[in-house]
This record gives sequence, structure tokens and C-alpha cells, in this order.
Amino acid sequence: MATFIVLLGPPGVGKGTQAKILADQTHLAHISSGDLFRENLKNQTELGKLAQTYMGRGELVPDDVTIGMIRERLARPDCEAGAILDGFPRTAAQADALANMLKEIGGEVKSVPYITAPESILVERLSGRWTCRANGHVFHEKNNPPKQSLVCDFDGSELYQRDDDRSETVVRRIQVYLEQTAPLIAYYRERGKLMEISGARPIAHVTRELLAVLKK
Ligand code: AP5
Repeated sequence: MATFIVLLGPPGVGKGTQAKILADQTHLAHISSGDLFRENLKNQTELGKLAQTYMGRGELVPDDVTIGMIRERLARPDCEAGAILDGFPRTAAQADALANMLKEIGGEVKSVPYITAPESILVERLSGRWTCRANGHVFHEKNNPPKQSLVCDFDGSELYQRDDDRSETVVRRIQVYLEQTAPLIAYYRERGKLMEISGARPIAHVTRELLAVLKK
């Protein structure tokens, strides 16, 4: 049965950073709903333009739009063995839809690492984050700096700061997370899938802990 891992946690806790590392190590696909929206925006699709009206305010994109986009992504051949899901699901309706979509393709959510960190750390990480224009590789000006300022180590593309990493939008994203996404902690705990991990430690520590719990 195909294996799907859901990374749950607040904005800036390190889901994207860890998802990329885990996908490399496990050879599972990496599906980031935020990256898919940003790619659509870069290509000026209708979906991208619609998503931007919500992302710019730190609000969630409506469930039907988000679920439709993920349904298409899950149908691609690189998801046959499974995937690391980063940023999806974010509401109970999305979690129910995910369970149904996976049933249709013969997969299931195997585990849900829930990565935590105090709010002060989230704010510090988001305000210092630099993202690569071409492929969404992520750096931090202090914790994980690129070798050359403003240039991605992996593909040489320009690094930029996301619009929604402005401090007022970060505050709203954290509020939205607490109101709409945090209920998924209980949702997955009740289903015996949740594993809590501290995201406050250095990147390599968090990866080691994630790999250890995923082996169980
Ligand atoms: P999305 O792109 O998913 O943003 P997010 O969940 O807010 O998560 P982030 O990307 O901000 O943080 P992260 O946890 O991935 O941290 P990262 O690894 O980058 O979503 C953006 C928007 O899209 C949403 O607001 C919404 O509008 C929309 N959207 C997306 N999915 C949706 C959905 N399912 N439904 C509806 N709407 C949706 O790390 C952050 C920084 O910290 C980096 O600089 C990194 O280098 C550094 N760092 C990481 N780990 C560590 C560590 N252990 N120690 C030190 N520094 C670290």
C-alpha cells in the first residue's frame, strides 16, 4: 500500500525544510500545497491569481479549490509509492477529503509528525527566510544561510522574501493556523497517527528525530 506522511505544524516550524530532506531520503514525492499555489501564481493561472487573494492576507484558500489541486497532484505517476504532504491538509474537510482520495488510489496516511515550536521562534524563522525563485529551496539568513548572498546553493537562482512573511501577515497566518488547522492535532491523534516532535532544535536534529519516529 502506498505510504503518505502528513507533516503538521504551524507556519515557519520547518515543514518545507524537513519535507524536502525526507523526500530525498525516502524517495517519496514531496507535495507542498503552498509551493503549488506559488507555482500557479508564477505562471499566472486563474488558480494562482485566485489563491493569491487569500495568501496575501494570510487566509486559507477555499477547501474546494485546494482539494481539487491536490487531487490532480496525487494522480501524477511520481505519487504511486506515496508522498510527503507539506501544508495539506489544513482543515477537517481537507483531512476527510484526503482520506477518501487515498482510498481511491490504494493508499493511506501512515503517520502524521506534528512539529512544534514556540511562537517567538516561528516569527524569527519567517522574518529571516529567503526562498529560491526557481524551485522553492529555503534558506535562513542566520540559521541556514546560502553560501553566496541572495543566490540559491542548489540551482543558482535568485532568493527572495515571500510577501506573506511580512510581520502583520505572519501574525494572521499563526491565528488562522490555531483556529482552522490545530483541530487536526486531535483529528489525527484520535486515529492513532500523530507523533509530536520538537521543531525548536537545529535542522539536522529534527531530521534525525523524524526519521526515527517514521521507522517505528
Ligand atoms: P505554506 O507555503 O504552506 O506556508 P506555511 O504552512 O505557513 O508554512 P511555511 O512555508 O511558512 O513554513 P514551513 O513550516 O514550511 O517552514 P520552512 O521549512 O520554510 O502556505 C502559504 C499559504 O498558502 C497559506 O497561508 C495559505 O494561504 C495557502 N495554503 C497553503 N496550503 C493550503 C491549504 N492546504 N489550504 C488552504 N490554503 C493553503 O522554514 C522556515 C524558516 O526557518 C526557513 O528560513 C528555514 O531555513 C528555517 N528553519 C527551518 N527549520 C529550522 C530549524 N530546525 N532550525 C533553524 N531554522 C530552521
